[in-house]
Amino acid sequence: MGGTVSDLRQGEDFLRAALSELEAPSEEPITAAIWFPSIVPTPANDVQERVVLQVLAPFMLLEGIWLARVAQPATAHRLMEAKFFDIYCRMVGLSNQTQAPSLRYRAWLTICGLELPSLVDPGFFEDRRFPEFSLNLPLIHLCLMHRPRSFLPELLGYTLAHSAMDSNWWGTLRACRGEVWALERREFHREIQVLAMAALEASLPFADEATMRIRNGWNLYRQEFECLMRELNDWMRPIPTVSDVLSELVQMRRPYAIGYHRRVLLQGRSLDEWLRDSKQDPRPLLEALRASPYVNSQCPEASRLIRALEFGGPMFGVMNVEERELCLKWIEEPQKESDSASFFRQGMRTDRYGVEQSNRYSQSMRGNDEFQRGEGRTFSSLLPGKSMRSGRLSTSTFRRQLFTMLLGVESPADLPPAAIRTIEGVLLRSRWFSRLRPLDRRLRIYDPEIFHQFLDDLHRRETERYHPLKGTPRTDRNYCRWAILQLAPTILVDGCWLAGIATAAERLDRVRHTLLQIYADEIGSGDCEWNHPNVYRRLLDSLDIELPALVSREFAEDSRFLDASFDIPIYLLSMGWLSERYFPELLGLNLSIEMNGLGAGYMKMVDILSFHGIDPTIIRLHLSIDNLAVGHAARAAEAITVFLEEIRQQQGDAAMQAVWGRILVGYRSLNIAAIKLVLGLMIRV
Ligand SMILES: [Fe+2]
Ligand SMILES: [Fe+2]
Repeated sequence: MGGTVSDLRQGEDFLRAALSELEAPSEEPITAAIWFPSIVPTPANDVQERVVLQVLAPFMLLEGIWLARVAQPATAHRLMEAKFFDIYCRMVGLSNQTQAPSLRYRAWLTICGLELPSLVDPGFFEDRRFPEFSLNLPLIHLCLMHRPRSFLPELLGYTLAHSAMDSNWWGTLRACRGEVWALERREFHREIQVLAMAALEASLPFADEATMRIRNGWNLYRQEFECLMRELNDWMRPIPTVSDVLSELVQMRRPYAIGYHRRVLLQGRSLDEWLRDSKQDPRPLLEALRASPYVNSQCPEASRLIRALEFGGPMFGVMNVEERELCLKWIEEPQKESDSASFFRQGMRTDRYGVEQSNRYSQSMRGNDEFQRGEGRTFSSLLPGKSMRSGRLSTSTFRRQLFTMLLGVESPADLPPAAIRTIEGVLLRSRWFSRLRPLDRRLRIYDPEIFHQFLDDLHRRETERYHPLKGTPRTDRNYCRWAILQLAPTILVDGCWLAGIATAAERLDRVRHTLLQIYADEIGSGDCEWNHPNVYRRLLDSLDIELPALVSREFAEDSRFLDASFDIPIYLLSMGWLSERYFPELLGLNLSIEMNGLGAGYMKMVDILSFHGIDPTIIRLHLSIDNLAVGHAARAAEAITVFLEEIRQQQGDAAMQAVWGRILVGYRSLNIAAIKLVLGLMIRV
C-alpha cells in the first residue's frame, strides 16, 4: 500500500470502498458531544476479556498513526495541520513517552499476560492471533496516513470521532481492570478533543462539500469501530472447545509435519496419510489419535504423545509450552471450553471490500522501506509533469518544477525519480570533496569523545570569530532584502529534511524520537506562531516581499529567485522523504544544519539586519534553539552517538565505522548543496 504505486492504489481503493459503503450519514452537526459505541464487547469470562485486548491490539497500538504525516513541508504551517500534529505528538508521547496511550496499552497487554509481537517486528500483521477483521480499522489508519492531503476533511472527521468516543466502554473489561484504563483515557480524550475541535474551527472556511466529507470521516470511524465490536462479539461465540483449538493447531502445522511420520501408524494408516487427508477437517485424525496407544487418558502425562514432546523425544521442540498444555487438556477433557487467550480461529478471517489485504499492512508500516531501498517502483506516472524528464526543458526550469513536485508529495511512493538522482548527485560530490579535503583528521575513525571535542572546538572557533558590528556594514539594506528573498525557498520548508521520521510510538526508537523532537520544534510544536517558516513569512511581510503560494508553480517560476535558490530545498525535501534509505547521511546532514545555526555568520547577520531595521527574529531563534548545550545541535549529535553505538553493539566496530563514513558524507553534503547559492549571494555583494 505504501511501498509501491500498486500498494498505494490498493490502499486508496480500500479507503474509497469503505467510504462508499457508509450508511447514510446523519445530518446532525458534529459537536464536542461524547458518543458511546452502541455495541460493547461482551466477553463471557476473563479469558475472553484478554482475547478482546488481543484482538484490539493492532487498532490500539497504531493509535494516532493516521496523523503521522499530516504536517508536511507544504502544509505544516497551517492551523489545522498544527493542531493535528499536536494530537499526534501526544499520541506518541513526544514530550513524555510514558504518556503515549499505545505504549501504555502495550504495558496493559503485558500485565494481562499477553505477549504479542512488536510493531517493529515485520511479522506483526501476519500474526495469526489477529483475525482479519481486526485489521480493517488499522488499515484505514494507515491509508489515511499515506493520503493526509487527499483525504484531509475525512481525516478531520475521523480524528474528531476518535477523540469524542466515550472511553467508559473499556470498563466492561472488569477482570482486566478496564475501569482503570477507562479513567486513564478520559483525560487524554478530553485533551485531544479540544485540539480536534480547534482543527474543526480552522476548517470552517471549507466549502459545503468538505463539510460532508468531514462527516463521512466521522461516520467512517464510528461505523468501522462498531463493526469491529460486532465482529469481535461474533468471533467470540461460541467459545471454542479444547478440541477446536487443537484442530486449528494441527491445521496450521500440517504442511510442515507431512513427511516425518511415515512409520507412525494409526488404524493401519501412516500418520503422514492422515495428515494429508486432514486439510479440510483434522477432527477424524484427532479421534483416531485419541483411540490409539499414543494417548493415555488415565494418566495424560504418561501418554506417548506427550512424552514424544519432551527432551530426547522425536517431537521435542515441535510445540511450545502452551501448546503442550493444550495437548494435555485435550487428553483430559477435549470438549471443555478453551481457556487459551491465543486461540486460533483462522476460519473466521474475512476479506471486506474485495481488496486483498494480507501482507499490505506491514508494507505500510515499514514506512516504504522497499521503495526507500530502491526496490519499489516510483509514483512518477501519477505526477503531473512526467514528461518533464524528456530533456526538452532546461535544467533550471526542471529544477524549479521539481521543487513544486516535491511539495506535492504526500507519501514517499509519490516521489519523482529525480529526487533520488538529486540526492545521489549531492552525495557523490560530497564524497569526492571529503576525499580531497577531509573535514578533520581526528574524525577519520569514530570515537565519541573526539567527535564531541570536534563539535566543541568548532563551536568555540565560530564564536571567537565573531566581532560585533562597528559602524556601517558593507552590505546595504537592499542587499539584505534581496538575500532574504533568495533564502525563502529554503526557510519556507524549514524542518523538511525530518518530515518522514514520524511513525507509530512503538517504532520511534531513541534516535528517531530525538529527530522527531527537532522536527516538532522546527514546525512549531502545534503552534503556528512558532512555526519557523511562519516566522520567515512574517519577516517577508515586514519587508513587503510578496510571494505566490509556496506550493504553486508561480512560486518556483518567480523570476526574482536565482535558480540556485532551489538547490538546498530540493535536496532537503528529497532527503526528508527518503529518510530511511539515507538514514546515516540524514543524521550527518541534520547535525550540519543545526551546527550551521550557531556560527559567527548568523551572529553577524543579526547585527547587520538590526542595523538596517530588519527584524532578525528568525536568526535569533536559530541561535538559541539550535544551541550545543541542550538544543538542536546537541540533540543532533546525541542521535549520532546513540545510533552508532547501536550499530556497534549489533554489527560490530567495522560496520559502525562504515556508517560513520556515511554520516560524515551527509555532514559535508549541506555545503555541497549550498555551493551555487553561496556563490550567487557573494557575487551580488
Ligand atoms: Fe529552524
Ligand atoms: Fe534547528
